[in-house]
Amino acid sequence: PVPLVIDTDPGIDDALAILLALASPEVDLRLVTTVHGNVELAQTTENALRVLHLAGRSDVPVAAGAAESLVHPQPERAGHVHGAAGLGGVELPPSPASVDPRPAVVALADLLVASPEPVTVAALGPLTNLALLLRVFPDAAARIDRLVVMGGSAARGGNVTAAAEFNVWADAEAAQAVLTSALPTVLVGLDVTLPTVLDEDGIARFAAGPIGGRAAAILRQYLDHARTAYGTSGVVLHDALAVTEAVAPGTLGTVRRDVVVDTGLGFGRGQTLVDRRTVSTAATAVEVAERVDSAAAVEFLVSRLAGLDGR
Ligand code: BDR
Ligand code: CA
Repeated sequence: PVPLVIDTDPGIDDALAILLALASPEVDLRLVTTVHGNVELAQTTENALRVLHLAGRSDVPVAAGAAESLVHPQPERAGHVHGAAGLGGVELPPSPASVDPRPAVVALADLLVASPEPVTVAALGPLTNLALLLRVFPDAAARIDRLVVMGGSAARGGNVTAAAEFNVWADAEAAQAVLTSALPTVLVGLDVTLPTVLDEDGIARFAAGPIGGRAAAILRQYLDHARTAYGTSGVVLHDALAVTEAVAPGTLGTVRRDVVVDTGLGFGRGQTLVDRRTVSTAATAVEVAERVDSAAAVEFLVSRLAGLDGR
């Protein structure tokens, strides 16, 4: 299995994404690093510990990362989407494990340097930790074999503002640093995540077991939010789709594009400007996900989550 690190701000879809990774034999989840984002860092860290414990995997280390964005503080959290404590109002049992004493960037650099095998990193929150890694441990960062980022939007506009997707908006300077860094990056944005919707019927298929049942409960809040915010009758699987691409490379159809982030303080802040005029040959270009078989992606997730409870 491919060694995998998840950098995350759980977060309902983050929680689902972590469970998907644990249910996937193609990868070996070696480390979870946490970041501010949907809720405050202390809460995302606690949530990561509890989600791992839910799946019986409190052996996976959790290292806490950045509590704030690099330059401009994130204007608001996303408690209205994910619930004040980040997991849709569901109180998971506390984990017996404690947080790794190392800062996230140190834990990540240690792992990258020590791993004899190429490591995949899935970034599911604001990119603050990855930007710091690039600055503080550039040689370790250069060892990332594949970076799969949930963030941005090429042609769909934003979800947190008219222009910006949440993770990029939450730390636009970090996103600009990472997306122009020449790390081998797949950008999984709203173009492919918004059409990938898990409905009640899908949720029902993994809701029977103890782990799937908790996952289903966490999703209920998101379902209500999606109904009012997007008018959809299901939940958008943003982070889980990025982990699907990390687990099964090539799930998404990608095109190599130059991408920059609007770091101005105007209405466009946090917008990913994806140059769709040409296929880029630049070293700093990223693979932008442009095509998805949403039905297949949802099926992948549902069957994997059902498998967590041995069904
Ligand atoms: C992203 O924003 C967060 O609220 C979700 O967890 C996901 O990572 C979607 O824009
Ligand atoms: Ca997230």
